[in-house]
Amino acid sequence: MTAPDFDKVAIELGDRSYDLLIGSGLLGRTDCYAGLPAGSDALIVTNTTVAPLYALALHKALKPLYRHIHQVELPDGEAHKDWITLNRIFDALLSSTCDRHTTLFALGGGVVGDMTGFAAACYMRGVPFVQVPTTLLAQVDSSVGGKTAINHPLGKNMIGAFHQPARVVADIDVLQTLPAREVVAGLAEVIKYGPIADRAFLDWIDENLSALLARDPAALVHAVKRSCEIKARIVAEDERESGLRAILNFGHTFGHAIEAGLGYGEWLHGEAVGCGMVMAAQLSHRLGLIDGDAAARLRGIIGRAGLPVRGPALGAQRYLELMRHDKKAEGGEIRFVLIDSLGHAVVRPAPDSLVQEVVLDCSG
Ligand SMILES: NC(=O)c1ccc[n+]([C@@H]2O[C@H](COP(=O)([O-])OP(=O)(O)OC[C@H]3O[C@@H](n4cnc5c(N)ncnc54)[C@H](O)[C@@H]3O)[C@@H](O)[C@H]2O)c1
Repeated sequence: MTAPDFDKVAIELGDRSYDLLIGSGLLGRTDCYAGLPAGSDALIVTNTTVAPLYALALHKALKPLYRHIHQVELPDGEAHKDWITLNRIFDALLSSTCDRHTTLFALGGGVVGDMTGFAAACYMRGVPFVQVPTTLLAQVDSSVGGKTAINHPLGKNMIGAFHQPARVVADIDVLQTLPAREVVAGLAEVIKYGPIADRAFLDWIDENLSALLARDPAALVHAVKRSCEIKARIVAEDERESGLRAILNFGHTFGHAIEAGLGYGEWLHGEAVGCGMVMAAQLSHRLGLIDGDAAARLRGIIGRAGLPVRGPALGAQRYLELMRHDKKAEGGEIRFVLIDSLGHAVVRPAPDSLVQEVVLDCSG
């Protein structure tokens, strides 16, 4: 028997377990979608940017497996991650009389993935869905783990559900058409896995940054695979984020303050997370958890990846207010994801005065 020409990572969640397939040329391969829950209908959910690039290839791959393949194209962008756009998925399902054995295929980045997953969680009280992530961020982060959501005018990702996909098919080749800024933003989430869980992976990223930025396929496969292995382990231990899973938010508390403070869309999520990791590492240093060299090393890697290492000058007090409003703050207390070595995360509060000093150090 020959070994499959793709990598496989298993997410172990009992009867909600599934596989992530990672490799080159997978999107258009029928065998990558074999063995999914049975049904006669499939709905491809994509957007106006991704559809002309990849929808036909996915359609062809699914054709031998489903009697009817429907498609809905959503407007592109975070601004459309709302209930009005979500309703277009339900319109497509209902107008095609799709039954509860229909499988949804999310073909796109995190926005399409989050909306498709949420639609799948709700339609007829839950139908299967498959993630076919087409951005680096979606391949290493949002497509794995079952968090789905839409935004509300009063808060990002505030309306959602946990609903695990039946499979994730991450085709590295699609990253070749991704705008360079999106590749860099996705790298922030790749880098994140090093300091929170795997020092050797951080060393590897450090040595292979130029290959990653040049979108070398072998480097991308390794980066996606290792990132997914780490996320899989964490999600398997804490599916609904009651503890350990919070460490995946390293850099996100500061990052969300940047995104919200500037207005969503000004900085990409990954850019804000990159800068947020610099601040979180600096806070870890100021609390005596890591030495200054470790914080400087992480800052160097983030900067060389092309991510911002200084936050916008919003004012230290404003950063604090924004972080207190983050949905991860509990009763107004901010729990920071920090590191006590390059490779291990801890979660704890920190004195306001110290946080303000760090923000002043790292912004403006
Ligand atoms: N569910 C989770 O656990 C989780 C985790 C992290 C982020 N998210 C969510 O993910 C979203 C961000 O995802 P994203 O960074 O993928 O952004 P995105 O989905 O907006 O995609 C970025 C841009 O790239 C385009 N694009 C996608 N694939 C392409 C390709 N192969 N070639 C050319 N263009 C392509 C998209 O159309 C879009 O314009 C946010 O809404 C965030 O809340 C969710």
